[in-house]
Amino acid sequence: MAAHYQIGGSSSAAISASVEAGIRGGTLAPGDALPAVRALAAELAVSPATVAKAYQELRQRGLVVTAGRHGTRVRPRPPVAARRAGLLPPPLPGARDLSAGQPDPRLLPPLGPHLAGLAAEIGAPTGYAVSAVVPELADAARERLAADGVPAAEITVTGGALDGIERLLAAHLRPGDAVAVEDPGWANLLDLVAALGLRAIGVPVDDDGPTVPGVRAALAAGARALIVTSRAQNPTGAAVSADRAEELRTLLTGRSDLLLIEDDHAAELARVPLHPLAGATAAWAFVRSVSKPYGPDLRLAVLAGDEATVARVAGRARVGAGWVSTVLQCLVLALWRDPATADLVRWAGESYERRRDGLVDALAAHGLAAQGRTGINIWVPVADETMVVTALRDAGWSVAPGALNRIAAAPGVRITVSPLDEADIEPLAAAVARAARPATPGGFTA
Ligand SMILES: Cc1ncc(COP(=O)(O)O)c(C=O)c1O
Repeated sequence: MAAHYQIGGSSSAAISASVEAGIRGGTLAPGDALPAVRALAAELAVSPATVAKAYQELRQRGLVVTAGRHGTRVRPRPPVAARRAGLLPPPLPGARDLSAGQPDPRLLPPLGPHLAGLAAEIGAPTGYAVSAVVPELADAARERLAADGVPAAEITVTGGALDGIERLLAAHLRPGDAVAVEDPGWANLLDLVAALGLRAIGVPVDDDGPTVPGVRAALAAGARALIVTSRAQNPTGAAVSADRAEELRTLLTGRSDLLLIEDDHAAELARVPLHPLAGATAAWAFVRSVSKPYGPDLRLAVLAGDEATVARVAGRARVGAGWVSTVLQCLVLALWRDPATADLVRWAGESYERRRDGLVDALAAHGLAAQGRTGINIWVPVADETMVVTALRDAGWSVAPGALNRIAAAPGVRITVSPLDEADIEPLAAAVARAARPATPGGFTA
């Protein structure tokens, strides 16, 4: 739908500022189309080159996307705080929200006892002269990563996985460079890549991770970085298998021009072994977040990598945000050391697995093939995302349209299983089946 917003300005800077103001104010909403370059140029009495330059600047900052005959549109989540938040309408009152991709708050470890423990132990307040990484946390992280086969001699800490990935991309790439990402993939990552002015090249993903031909094609197309989700791929639940890891390592070994990033966000929640690619390329990083097992609000990830890459990330942080609060680092260390927390995380992993497998099986019984080998989401291929999201919303279930996750992948919807109880599974599967294959007027279901 074309936006009803009067874009103004007589220079490219003024035009792009006007579009940004529309996005900020909520009049230009995610998905809204901007006028064609020539039409806006005529309206504003400027040259088409001036408008094209404004659109290019907005594109490089990730505010808009230009997609061939679809023209230029506001991105689903532009990196500008806006009064209207996104493409998704809020769930109807009383609806179950399965759209958020969040862990189940009922299965996150309570922080109170650990904060009380910290309060008792913590010494005098620390100033600026602290080291960036608490040594005990670094040792514990090294031990955990080494147990999973990740070489972790060099390590730093970031404010979550996405912060680590942003720092890595900013340290190695320049605006306009291409990044290979899974397709379908994590919506926030696609938004970040766009906001950094980088170009995303989609790599198809199956249950075993990014496909080898897909990675090969992305490399041939000039990708300067490759981002692989180790386990619980968002949205498909893929996990890199032993065979796929070996094939990818063979393909990547010796590449000196590629930054390899692995995102192991499921970490201790994952119910399948890790098969890392770490070290296959000269420049590599392995990022493990604590968000999913211990809570997204902790905002902490550990980042291992080759010496030069870790030094770039840590050094750049030092001249900027500085470091991740040592109070937070000590809290994560306390959680890692607590056997009761380890039991809860194990139990949470089993519980997600039951709900996920239960829903995938129930959908299969209704004739729908869904993907969801690991993690908290499943991916259901559908012909028409909007129709399915709307029908499910009317039936009391809010799910995420795959458009947020896709570059060229076929349509689908993402369903987060973490809010589900056992009793929800069959009614939800039946509702998805009805929404995905509505009965034709004659009563025949195709
Ligand atoms: C693929 C992927 N990576 C990482 C994260 C978590 O990132 P962070 O540590 O920034 O919270 C998520 C959360 O949904 C995710 O889906």
